[in-house]
Amino acid sequence: MALLSLTNATLRFGGIVALDDVSLEVEPGTIAGLIGPNGAGKTTAFNVITRLYRLDSGDVVFDGRSILRTPPSRVVRLGIARTFQNVELFQTMTVLENVLVGAHTTSLFERAAVVRRRALDALELVGIEQVARRPAAGLPFGTMKRVELARALVSQPQVLLLDEPAGGLNHEEVEDLASFIRRLRDELKLTILLVEHHMNLVMRVSDHVHVLNFGRTIASGDPAGVQRDPRVIEAYLGGELEETA
Ligand SMILES: Nc1ncnc2c1ncn2[C@@H]1O[C@H](COP(=O)(O)OP(=O)(O)OP(=O)(O)O)[C@@H](O)[C@H]1O
Ligand SMILES: [Mg+2]
Repeated sequence: MALLSLTNATLRFGGIVALDDVSLEVEPGTIAGLIGPNGAGKTTAFNVITRLYRLDSGDVVFDGRSILRTPPSRVVRLGIARTFQNVELFQTMTVLENVLVGAHTTSLFERAAVVRRRALDALELVGIEQVARRPAAGLPFGTMKRVELARALVSQPQVLLLDEPAGGLNHEEVEDLASFIRRLRDELKLTILLVEHHMNLVMRVSDHVHVLNFGRTIASGDPAGVQRDPRVIEAYLGGELEETA
């Protein structure tokens, strides 16, 4: 059974249909890529899953239960964590404090020292424990992206939603990210939904790829099949997909 699914999800903003009858399933322990041109509805799907946006119709099911009545503040406690497309850090707080924010809702009755240890472990996992006490402001962009990852991971989620984690990273950083995402699946047994425009990364790490265009699912399948799909090639007008050749 899928760990996370959208069924017939529809959401309009005035005249814009951001999600138009979208159904997708994410199997436990897998990496699912979610791709599509700008404005296709990828971030909207994340905002629906994390309960920031309300569906007009359809459902979101996590671990066998609808989460449509779950308040946004409870989503993390259910086991769903995310990163944001635009880095959203608290600039005046330290890196460690930013990560502790991610631990807040899942550690209410734990000792501060235990939670702090977990936050430091998350920073170590993403490879930046040495900047724990530095303010978030002024850090290199790639480091800020890692802080966001640590802040999501510290809640010990079952599902991790990554919204363009490779955006703005250089080639070497993208290579590191690819191995890191696989490690999260293989060693931490996480289930990952990955939104990316970096086709090479998505196609290399994903077990399954869903493609949205104008709020509709236009293809869904294994990476090789999706890359050959004429509807997908047409949606991208042969642009971004050519990078994978
Ligand atoms: N809060 C909002 N109010 C009005 N329109 C919105 C809102 N959020 C999203 N939209 C619209 O919904 C559509 C889908 O946007 P979304 O951000 O989900 O796209 P995306 O696939 O994440 O694109 P990108 O690759 O550029 O990040 C767009 O037309 C966008 O303008
Ligand atoms: Mg987006």
